[in-house]
Parts: sequence; C-alpha cells; structure tokens
Amino acid sequence: MDFSHFDERRYPTSNVVAGYGEWSESYENTVLDLMDLALLERLETPAWKQAGRIADLACGTGRVGVWLKGNGARAIDGVDITPEMLALARSKSVYDKLVNADVATTGLASTEYDIATMSLADEHFRDLGPAYREAARLLGAGGAFVIVGYHCHFLMTAGMPTHFNNRHGEPVAVQTYVHLFSDHVAAARKAGFQLLEMVEGLVNDDWIAAKPKWERFRHHPVSFAMAWRKA
Ligand SMILES: C[S@@+](CC[C@H](N)C(=O)[O-])C[C@H]1O[C@@H](n2cnc3c(N)ncnc32)[C@H](O)[C@@H]1O
Repeated sequence: MDFSHFDERRYPTSNVVAGYGEWSESYENTVLDLMDLALLERLETPAWKQAGRIADLACGTGRVGVWLKGNGARAIDGVDITPEMLALARSKSVYDKLVNADVATTGLASTEYDIATMSLADEHFRDLGPAYREAARLLGAGGAFVIVGYHCHFLMTAGMPTHFNNRHGEPVAVQTYVHLFSDHVAAARKAGFQLLEMVEGLVNDDWIAAKPKWERFRHHPVSFAMAWRKA
C-alpha cells in the first residue's frame, strides 16, 4: 500500500540508495536498538549459536551482524543495496562476505544458510514477494527467516515515514510503503514458509525516555519481529 494515504509529514522523499547514502553518516546515532535488537532478544526459536551460516539481508551498517556475533553466530554474510551503508558494515569486521545487491537478487548460493535475517527494510519494498522468495532460496530445509520491521499500525496512525535529518538539518523521508501483516503472511506462505513465532514492540518508558514527544504514542505497537520456518 502506498504510504501517501497516511503521510502527515509531507517531507521531501528520497529513493533508498540516495537516502541511505546520505543517512549513513548519522544512521547509527539515530536508530534505536529498541526498534529491532530488543525484539531479536525476545525471540525464542532461532538457534543463533547452532547456525552454520547466516545471511543478513539489508544489513546496512552491520548493527544486526554485531548483535548476531555477540549472540554466538559463527559465520555471517551481509547484503545491502547502498554502498555507503555497506562500507560501514565492512568496518565492523563481523561479516565473512558483503555483497552490494538488492535483497531480491543477492547472488548468494542457494540452500547455503541456516538462518536469514532482515531488519528494518521491508517498508522500503513495493512488494514483499521477492524478498521472501530470495530468503527461501538461500535457506536449507528447516531454515529460519527472521524479519523485523516498522509496524504497519504505527506507520498508519503516526503518519510518519522512515526519515532522517540531512546535512542541513532538514527532514528527508526514504520511500516508504505500508505492508499489512496479511501481506507478510501471504508472501511468506507463497514462498514456502510457516510462522514459528511473532513478537511486537510497544512504545514504553524506554521509548519515551529516548523520544519524549512520543508520549502520545505510549502503548502503541511500533515494530514487529516474525520468525518463519522454511518447510
Ligand atoms: C533502516 S536500514 C536497516 C539496516 C540494518 N538492517 C539495521 O537494522 O540497522 C535499511 C537498509 O535497507 C537497505 N535496503 C533497502 N531496500 C533494499 C533492497 N531492496 N535491497 C537491499 N538493501 C535494501 C538500505 O540500503 C538500508 O541499509
């Protein structure tokens, strides 16, 4: 669904590569671990330590790669479409291989991975199908696809796209779409996945401490994580 139906900010909008190319300079100072890493912590099913190889799709600057290493992952490959984000991921030295590619066509080997992760990227995809299909191609039988994202409820009620402040301090949105959970279920099922587990992150005291203006969003779901199993 097009985000423009809900947009209350009307910021100038950038495409993914140009937007994250510029945001890369300040990205790690702005993204909050509460959004995604806190949800990864809550998932019970992914066997991070037992995984032979993990593919981190839309790895960005490598925050998830660092988290995975800290949680026992042995070998991680990363993929991202924005060269500036990948350069920062490279500097973390947690990935064996880093590929500059679309998550729909990663070029990574089929069935080589036990787990694929993808955090905070799906709102930039017009369609979810290609990413779910590529994750299914990369995973061996029984492999897990762990996807963390910006909650559709929050996008719709807050009317706030994914955005950053550019070098001049002006807000810029990165092209955003809204995917309902039924869209995720349909794309995942079509790619051969079954849902193992799902958690949602609510705006709580920790969020309000970081973003006092979000008091009006207290108790609203702001992010989600789903773990899918390849049948
Ligand atoms: C909000 S960042 C998330 C980065 C990282 N996963 C994290 O959690 O910090 C979104 C990332 O998705 C990447 N991205 C968006 N669309 C993509 C696509 N179609 N293929 C590959 N990467 C994509 C962007 O380049 C950016 O690095």
